[in-house]
Amino acid sequence: MRASLRVIAVACAGALLHAQATPARARFGTTPDGTAVERFALRNANGVEFNAINYGGIITSLRVPDRRGAMADVVFGFDSMDGYLKKPPYFGAIVGRYGNRIAKGTFSLDGKTYRLATNNGVNHLHGGNVGFDKVVWKAEPIPGKNGIAFSRVSRDGEEGYPGNLTVRVTYELTDRNELIVDYHATTDKATPVNLTQHSYFNLAGGGDILGHEMMINADRYTPVDATLIPTGVVAPVAGTPFDFRKPTAIGARIDQADAQLKIGQGYDHNWVLNRAGSGPQLAARVVEPVSGRTMEVSTTEPGVQFYTGNFLDGTIVGKGGQRYVHRGGFCLETQHYPDSPNHANFPSTILRPGQEYNSRTVFTFGVVR
Ligand code: GLA
Repeated sequence: MRASLRVIAVACAGALLHAQATPARARFGTTPDGTAVERFALRNANGVEFNAINYGGIITSLRVPDRRGAMADVVFGFDSMDGYLKKPPYFGAIVGRYGNRIAKGTFSLDGKTYRLATNNGVNHLHGGNVGFDKVVWKAEPIPGKNGIAFSRVSRDGEEGYPGNLTVRVTYELTDRNELIVDYHATTDKATPVNLTQHSYFNLAGGGDILGHEMMINADRYTPVDATLIPTGVVAPVAGTPFDFRKPTAIGARIDQADAQLKIGQGYDHNWVLNRAGSGPQLAARVVEPVSGRTMEVSTTEPGVQFYTGNFLDGTIVGKGGQRYVHRGGFCLETQHYPDSPNHANFPSTILRPGQEYNSRTVFTFGVVR
């Protein structure tokens, strides 16, 4: 009797420990106005470690094993708030209200013209001057899950957008080495919404990403004008350096004489994913041949912005003194196409009152032998 009671007590203590440990939270820093920023840590049964902060919902680190079991941090980030307050180019952040560019920061909806902040030359980029990446979110654990939920209300008029948008983004780490990102939003006025995750990955944990082998499950992409706004044409990738249907080293064709590559100074384009039906489907698969680390991305979104860190120049110093070099990281931003509010032939990004915005992207980490 006594022995079995002890077993029950131990089991309960274990459950309690687990409940308290998910996520582990710690002070990370403060914003200039004195708001506390906290870091939330998730761990899984395989030793994968994930950290995110409630500022920008930023993923600050993600440690995954290589083929020999050695762990490395595969995302860009900073050890403290100072780095994030210097406005790095969206490292690890949740991007909103609209991921990527809206031409000249303007669009018409239901007969009314809206003007958004123009923060990227003449265009609007990633939600404006103070996008979802530069604000403190409310954070709470997700009952019964190894995850963390971030939520906020983006007020009517924020950066020029119409409507109060209530947003919730969750990160869940599973024992299958999946990082599941779920996005949910509702609004009280019609508004464009296009949320994404802007982590920069380097599966080797350092150096450039040109040797990573990339597969993108897309027959088509959306070419851009000189300011990186889609022209509206949906073009085949066949016969171009944009054809990643077979795994190809990122660096194999990145400096080819190609007008589109020249505009982006490398890859900085939206691929139109091959999909059928709903639910998450394979968007991309990346293999880093030296470490053997792999990452698969599946999504419910129709597009992915593949960006090869072309604007990085080694001046940003991140975690542990690491310099983020030119093409030192890549982003796979699952989303609707850039500038959709100005292209009737692109899938709509308009959310209306009474509708729900639901989007899921799963990043799965593994190894090749
Ligand atoms: C996105 C854009 C790029 C660049 C980066 C951030 O990926 O498409 O042009 O602005 O964000 O630097």
